[in-house]
Amino acid sequence: MIISLLELNNFRNYETLNLELSKDINILYGDNAQGKTNVLEALYLCSTTKSHKGAKDKDMIRIGCDESHLRMYFSRTGINHKIDMHLRKSARKGVAVDGIPVKRSSEVYGLMNVVFFSPEDLSMIKNGPADRRRFVDAELCQLNRAYLQYLSDYNKTLEQRNDLLKQISFNKSLRDTVEIWDKQLARYGRFLIETRKEFIDELNEIVGDIHKNISGGKENLVVKYEPSVGPEEFEQKLTETLDRDLYQKNTGIGPHRDELSFFVKDENLKLYGSQGQQRTAALSVKMAEIELVRKKVGENPILLLDDVLSELDRGRQQSLLNSINGIQTIITCTGLEEFVGYRSRMNTLYKVTSGSIEKL
Ligand SMILES: Nc1ncnc2c1ncn2[C@@H]1O[C@H](COP(=O)(O)OP(=O)(O)O)[C@@H](O)[C@H]1O
Ligand SMILES: [Mg+2]
Repeated sequence: MIISLLELNNFRNYETLNLELSKDINILYGDNAQGKTNVLEALYLCSTTKSHKGAKDKDMIRIGCDESHLRMYFSRTGINHKIDMHLRKSARKGVAVDGIPVKRSSEVYGLMNVVFFSPEDLSMIKNGPADRRRFVDAELCQLNRAYLQYLSDYNKTLEQRNDLLKQISFNKSLRDTVEIWDKQLARYGRFLIETRKEFIDELNEIVGDIHKNISGGKENLVVKYEPSVGPEEFEQKLTETLDRDLYQKNTGIGPHRDELSFFVKDENLKLYGSQGQQRTAALSVKMAEIELVRKKVGENPILLLDDVLSELDRGRQQSLLNSINGIQTIITCTGLEEFVGYRSRMNTLYKVTSGSIEKL
């Protein structure tokens, strides 16, 4: 997959932008708060219909404007495509693929595969479980459109069940109606649990070698999926824990409580790993994500690296830069020190200054 052109209109701090990208490494550099990350956000948004940091549409529209237009030209399996996106202050976004409006923006999912890598991803292992679930969900939604639908259905059902739990405290006769939501929640949840398990199994087939490589052959990394409840017992367990759920007015078990752990030599990195080990493992997992997309989709994803190189030591920087051979990459950074030694592959350099980009 290759993105050839991004056009923006009143998006974040860009009034207009016409950015041609090269098929190799593109480096956007400039001081802080100039609009580097905004470009990556625009690319991620066009590819997945969502902001990588979960920003609302109205917040991405340029301040003082009512709407925002984005257009991305790209190719996949040698065929050219175009995505148009129209963000509005108080209405749903409009999306068109190759000039044809789509009914649901989720139809765009799966057309493009992007891997976004930010400094926060490097702290994935020491952060809370929600960050690790987000990592799994973001990837699975791109690889599996059914997953996206089930996840959305699950979350809606979960919200409705939690609302009902609150109502029951005022109206005990509603207690019998919980069962209907439990059945649905268990149906959607089973799919999420099984698909997550499969994904982690596949990730493990790849991540071990990558991690051995980065850690100098010393460490063997294993990712463990720890579902809060098994797929087959989910419905039964919901019934068994209903009293507790009613007391706490929320649902205590299910995929929204799943955990992911990272082990080196049977030691849980979250508890026993040094910060360096945790970050290296996170890097390995992100690199495995690229490989997994390549395996499943048959093409390289686009890699968006937001300010991560300066967070890595020399050896890790090189592992990362070496592994992106042949992958279109857009890198943001404030300085260019990290690229010494990679000059031949730094084919396109852009200077970003307060909402305008100059190709050097
Ligand atoms: N909706 C918006 N309208 C106008 N400017 C915005 C909007 N959202 C963010 N900005 C501006 O974008 C800049 C930050 O851009 P960002 O891409 O995060 O910078 P960096 O170059 O550090 O990555 C800030 O100056 C911020 O004020
Ligand atoms: Mg930034």
